[in-house]
Amino acid sequence: MKHFLDIHTTDRDEIRHMLDEARAMKVAREDRPKGMPDDIQPLAGRMVALIFEKPSTRTRVSFDVGVRQMGGQTMVLSGGEMQLGHGESIADTARVLSRYVDMIMIRTNEESILHELAEHASVPVINGLTNESHPCQIMADVMTYEEHRGPIKGKKVVWVGDGNNVCASMLHAAGQLGFDLTFSGPMQLDPDPKAIGFARDQGSNVVIERDPNRAVEGADIIVADTWVSMHDAQSTRERRHNMLRPYQVNTPLMQAAGEQAVFMHCLPAHRGEEVTSEVMDGPQSVIFDEAENRLHAQKAVMRWCLGL
Ligand code: CP
Ligand code: NVA
Repeated sequence: MKHFLDIHTTDRDEIRHMLDEARAMKVAREDRPKGMPDDIQPLAGRMVALIFEKPSTRTRVSFDVGVRQMGGQTMVLSGGEMQLGHGESIADTARVLSRYVDMIMIRTNEESILHELAEHASVPVINGLTNESHPCQIMADVMTYEEHRGPIKGKKVVWVGDGNNVCASMLHAAGQLGFDLTFSGPMQLDPDPKAIGFARDQGSNVVIERDPNRAVEGADIIVADTWVSMHDAQSTRERRHNMLRPYQVNTPLMQAAGEQAVFMHCLPAHRGEEVTSEVMDGPQSVIFDEAENRLHAQKAVMRWCLGL
């Protein structure tokens, strides 16, 4: 059994294996109703706990549907309604849940909570987003790019806006899968230096370019995310908007990038803020394939975790 905690701590050959498996599993059930089981049922008899300490649409639904398609069962738990939210330790929660369920997916706050849970659980733990990372999202993003344009190795990803948790996982993937990343945003919101360091150590060309028009030149992927993440204090909202307004992804910016570039966003998006509707609904946008691929990528992650 293996945990899926972060992209940079997962073996790169195994990441590649999961991506290939995700693609094969997607193709195998093309055009099937969503509720119809897969031909193979690797999770038959397995129970998966999905714990949310923050809101979610995609992560919640895609994990739930993915487990069921593979023959397993789920229970969706809200952190605040568990004893976890009322003083029971993470370690004890991990020990107890491991007696009831075969796998745990958690969306939580500090990355340290995720690691503590994994340390004390005797079943696999999957990171469904923390304040610092979102590896499942980036598995889906890489899968989506490769479906549309082929291998991501050697390509240029331009992250426009806030250097947040999702950006950190993209940097981890850049290091693991051999692509380059240019960050374009205000200095105050630069990505995690450890994530930049990891990517650079693996040979990825990580560039900081404050001018978004220059940053997107020759981009293969342009990525945006919300200007205010769930863990950001609402009191910072106005300041963040003021800093990030020059970094909106709009049609002129996509034109500056060129036709080869695809537009990605993990969603939920704020239309008219970090990205315009024209870009979201335009020909270069792959955002809904990206959302769909959460399902397929995570099914491969779950099988890998359980060795099935
Ligand atoms: N992209 C993503 O993780 O979406 P949710 O917050 O809806 O799960
Ligand atoms: N950066 C966002 C991603 C949401 C899926 C957040 O953490 O709120």
